[in-house]
Amino acid sequence: MAGSWRRWAHGMPANPLLPGRHLMPALVAIIGLMPVPAAAFLHASETDTDSGRALYVEHCAACHGVDLEGQPDWRSREANGLYPAPPHDETGHTWHHDDAMLIDYITRGGQAVLDDMGVTFTSGMPGFGSVLEASEIEAILDYIKSTWPEHIRDTQAQRSNAAAD
Ligand code: HEC
Repeated sequence: MAGSWRRWAHGMPANPLLPGRHLMPALVAIIGLMPVPAAAFLHASETDTDSGRALYVEHCAACHGVDLEGQPDWRSREANGLYPAPPHDETGHTWHHDDAMLIDYITRGGQAVLDDMGVTFTSGMPGFGSVLEASEIEAILDYIKSTWPEHIRDTQAQRSNAAAD
């Protein structure tokens, strides 16, 4: 049975509707071109998120929480006059700010940014500009964003685009 099936398949005439051999190089070129940039992008962003998470755990989690949950009672001022570290998940207000503001806050620290804005506030947020590379700060921010639900990510992205205009 199997033998006769194979003999039949072998003897089949070429199907005129299937792409012939001469089409193969063109197909390979098209297929080869399309997925590569997408795959490379996906790969890079996954790696960034992984390294962003590691950097977050090392530099930020002590105050903002391993699960980005922030410190307890983060809306109430402590006895020393400072506010506790807020969460970075969707319950906090990190996503209310555009990228430039967030990067500035992380790089220079809360005090420098708020002083520049004329806000009277004693900030407990240290600056990381001398500890982290700009690319590392971006990776941390990408990691934080990767934990947000899509509608929050969209809202924050729109805010960043509007601020950059
Ligand atoms: C020593 C504790 C501490 C560490 C470590 C720390 N933060 Fe903060 N962070 C704070 C506090 C406290 C605030 C609350 C606002 C303020 O005082 O400026 C804050 C605020 C922020 C804000 C503004 C959030 C908002 O909703 O306005 C961002 C963004 C932020 N931190 C990111 C980071 C990142 C990223 C790291 C790690 C690279 C980090 N923080 C490490 C204490 C800390």
